[in-house]
Amino acid sequence: MNSLRPKRLGHMVLMVRDIKKSAQFYTDVLGLKVSDWIGDQMVFLRAGSDHHDLALAQLPKDSADFNDLPRYSRPGLEHFSYLIDSYEEMERSVKVLQEHGVEIVRGIGRHGPGNNLFLVFKDPDGNNVEVYCEMTQIGERDAHEPQVWERTIESFDQYRFERFVVPPPPHLVAQKTAQAAAQNTASSAPQDSAKADSSDQE
Ligand SMILES: [Fe+2]
Repeated sequence: MNSLRPKRLGHMVLMVRDIKKSAQFYTDVLGLKVSDWIGDQMVFLRAGSDHHDLALAQLPKDSADFNDLPRYSRPGLEHFSYLIDSYEEMERSVKVLQEHGVEIVRGIGRHGPGNNLFLVFKDPDGNNVEVYCEMTQIGERDAHEPQVWERTIESFDQYRFERFVVPPPPHLVAQKTAQAAAQNTASSAPQDSAKADSSDQE
């Protein structure tokens, strides 16, 4: 089966419940290459030329928190991401993920800040993994003034979920509806009704 075509990440390490299953996911689905193993307890993977940008470590089978899967209503990692080439590659990525039966969480969308396209999906332990592209680049000599974006649907997704391949997050749909309603009422409508809540993720 086909895999995604990631370009790079920095590096990070994930504890996993089944290292063989996870290694297979990150090679067959995400398209990383194996650099090395330490026994059958740790595997180092790469998208680019760094020896590893992602390493997986086997969680002890008797770990007390073995099945305490990621929840996104508490502090901790929400997602990490790999760069891909283009919108066309992102559309291909959707097909690849569907072929592999991988759960897609959100996307295809385009964030306001950074202008990047995003597609987020689950790994075997329920971590959110993202592929992205077309992020605004700011060179050392470029003039860039930081802006404060309003927390609207468009700051989350400029396409307003029109290119999503899965149902969008319910709280954001509610906000989209509220925003449209607010636009149809007098200009004195409360501004807060157009804002997304605090759980929007970039
Ligand atoms: Fe992201």
